[in-house]
Amino acid sequence: MKKTYQILLCALITFVVAGCGKTAKVDTLSIVPEPVYVNMKEGNFTISNQTKIAFENIGQNTTTAKYITKTMRQMHMRTAIGNAATDQCVSFLLNDSINIELGEEGYMIEVQPTGIRITANTETGLFYGFQTLMQMLPDDISSERYKKITLPCCTILDYPRFEWRGSHLDVSRHFFTVKDIKKHLDLMATYKLNKFHWHLTDDHGWRIEIEKYPLLNDVGSWRVDRADVAWGEGEPAHEGEENRYGGFYKKEEIKEIVEYAAQRHIDVIPEIEIPGHCSEILAAYPHMACANDDTTYQVQIGPYWPPRAILCGGNDSVMQFLYDVMDEIIPLFPYQYIHIGGDEAVKSNWERCPRCQARIKELGLENEDQLQSWMIMEVEKYLQLQGKQIIGWDEILDGGVSSHATVMSWQGMKGAVKAAQHGNHAIMTPTDYCYFDYYQGNPNFCPPAMNHPLPLYKVYQFEPIPAGLTTEQARCILGGQANLWTEYVNDYHHAEYMLLPRLCAMAECLWSPADRKNWPLFRSKMVHHKARLTHMGYNVFEGYFKPVLFTSQNNDGTLNVGFDWEVEGTEIYYSTQGTPEKEKGGIRYTEPFQVKPGTVVSTASYLNGELKEEVYTFTIEKK
Ligand code: ACM
Ligand code: ZN
Repeated sequence: MKKTYQILLCALITFVVAGCGKTAKVDTLSIVPEPVYVNMKEGNFTISNQTKIAFENIGQNTTTAKYITKTMRQMHMRTAIGNAATDQCVSFLLNDSINIELGEEGYMIEVQPTGIRITANTETGLFYGFQTLMQMLPDDISSERYKKITLPCCTILDYPRFEWRGSHLDVSRHFFTVKDIKKHLDLMATYKLNKFHWHLTDDHGWRIEIEKYPLLNDVGSWRVDRADVAWGEGEPAHEGEENRYGGFYKKEEIKEIVEYAAQRHIDVIPEIEIPGHCSEILAAYPHMACANDDTTYQVQIGPYWPPRAILCGGNDSVMQFLYDVMDEIIPLFPYQYIHIGGDEAVKSNWERCPRCQARIKELGLENEDQLQSWMIMEVEKYLQLQGKQIIGWDEILDGGVSSHATVMSWQGMKGAVKAAQHGNHAIMTPTDYCYFDYYQGNPNFCPPAMNHPLPLYKVYQFEPIPAGLTTEQARCILGGQANLWTEYVNDYHHAEYMLLPRLCAMAECLWSPADRKNWPLFRSKMVHHKARLTHMGYNVFEGYFKPVLFTSQNNDGTLNVGFDWEVEGTEIYYSTQGTPEKEKGGIRYTEPFQVKPGTVVSTASYLNGELKEEVYTFTIEKK
């Protein structure tokens, strides 16, 4: 551990300002997610504005070649197209014969004194190789002009552990512009995340144009504006108040985003929530509520619990509505999956609704959970006829699922385990590791967020394959995903703050082999990535300074106390007298120490000499 730390302290990039551009010599790499294999070698190669790029077996006009050329040019590199055989090039080669190890998404990079060569079986692999190459360049490459960058010779071989590396964004609770979504897709691409789960409909606003049901947009996409106060602190709508907050994506905008994502090798999964989380639908089309539900629904403006709004399960016009909506969704999203929600549908209206009860009886169902499953399976059949598969939150298991449904496990991992045991595919998004609407730091020092802290350290511990699954069952776990619900996220600038740097940890959990994960190394890489992301214009959270406590027991009954920390360079001081600050005699923490059970240990964290946050206290007890 210590050795890695020392090596990383040497991981300096040296800059020399020269002429109209800087020069840099890169000594060590700081790639996130950590590649499968890296071998550093003697020698180096210098990229300058004379360096050319070459494409072999891949046309210059392919999406990926154009992306690479454009990005290199944006970085002020005059990238003429060259010939790999004769010029000193950065060359991109699509393999003639498939390299099995690299698979669909893997790549190899060889930096040699004569040039850099990136090879892959697919354009996706070349794209990811290019993302890695970008991360080998100085942290400020996106904002500074470089004349020369000298890279160390090395070989990198890399491919992902999981095929599903997702990022979910709720655009219902708050709405984000096309430009915001593109910035988000750029961020995902940087970290080799490949599934954008777009939560387009919910109680707080319907966000996609549907021509056949115009009130979804005229009514369902708008609510009264309380964006200037924290979630939950806004007044209810006043009599006659205009609905000014909201918006929706026009079909042309959806196409533009899907195309932008495809250029970055990202699939887009729309989520259309059924049968619950639908106040906005019922505000627009009240007849889709249950027969006995006389609520006047509005597009919700704040916390809304329990979520009783539910589409009537006994009304044929609701089913027709769902098919009609899917008819408009399908042509917009080329990827095979559509997310149908299914979570948190409170079924009290169904219990009382004569139409729902008649449907239950007619179909011989046992209960309301089975009515939900029937509805979802009907929609699933409809989608399957058009070549689509469904994903649903883990509640879809409650009344039974078809063998083709993919389960997104958010209430812990048990949903995914159950799904995998039945041979269904599953995606891991347990709240404990994947809910980025939770605080990432001390709530006293952060803007309001949803729940108890989920710090970077904890996200990094995410292991998507739970113990106890057979090899066959483990194969059903497609991967995992970070979810960002946006009740407390008013704009994309704040979304970035909630996502970063946690999304980096998520990317490493989903891409890198489990045995390549290394917390001290990751922590030190974050120094570079926070700087890199800031130069790229992202809003990055500084870090949580509460030490992570470790204890173990000795034979004599005493306990060993150790601390870990989140931000590279943090110095922890501690005391058993309640005064851990440096100037009050706090002891600098360097290694675990012994105390008696029941001892109260307090700590103070410093970064660059500055006291961070507050004094934390820990009562050290036997486990
Ligand atoms: C969820 O968080 N309700 C899926
Ligand atoms: Zn009903």
